[in-house]
Amino acid sequence: MPSMNIIVTSLKGGVGKTTSSIYLSATAVNRGYDPVTLIDADPQASSAEWLETWPLTGITVVEAPSERMAIRAVGRVEGLAVVDTPPGNERITQAIVALADAVVIPTRAGGVEYSRVMSTLELIPARIPRGVVICAARLGTNDLEAAIEWWKEQKLEIWGVIPERVGIAAGPEARLSREGLEGYDDVLNRALRGWR
Ligand SMILES: Nc1ncnc2c1ncn2[C@@H]1O[C@H](COP(=O)(O)OP(=O)(O)OP(=O)(O)O)[C@@H](O)[C@H]1O
Ligand SMILES: [Mg+2]
Repeated sequence: MPSMNIIVTSLKGGVGKTTSSIYLSATAVNRGYDPVTLIDADPQASSAEWLETWPLTGITVVEAPSERMAIRAVGRVEGLAVVDTPPGNERITQAIVALADAVVIPTRAGGVEYSRVMSTLELIPARIPRGVVICAARLGTNDLEAAIEWWKEQKLEIWGVIPERVGIAAGPEARLSREGLEGYDDVLNRALRGWR
């Protein structure tokens, strides 16, 4: 069976990696991808806990809380896998992104965010498609416009702009937000562009 993995990563914490991983997996299931595996490579296990609290039919969770386990889990993927990663660990990030078919880098609008994304980009081999997703975006603000302009100047593709929504912030306390699913549908499209 052909396999494809999307690694969701950023060295920065709290930017939306786990939220993006869950929504991308759910979007993939909604689109009919089968099997869909969510590999949780973060020892905090936020994705795994989310799906324990609110299971989503069609997503299999694999907990892989070490570099070794993550590499093994990614190597065994059948079908589509989305990989949630821990923040702040260059070694693990580099080891995992080396295996990526596509890398999704969640970020926030705002100047302080750029340098952490740039450091994350340095870890990704040049041949691997990558794009940023601006998470919890405040639509219509100058901050957001400036962020979009900045990424365009850097020639980094923007694969999605996900609005800031209470329904998305609710995480595992609520069912997935329809607006969130729609936003991540675009991200999935872009990430899968090179597949098949
Ligand atoms: N579109 C959104 N609208 C509102 N809140 C959001 C949105 N996306 C993410 N958040 C919130 O931002 C916070 C951080 O998100 P998340 O846990 O996904 O980040 P993370 O990068 O996985 O963090 P960590 O580095 O700790 O693993 C959470 O409280 C989450 O609910
Ligand atoms: Mg997380």
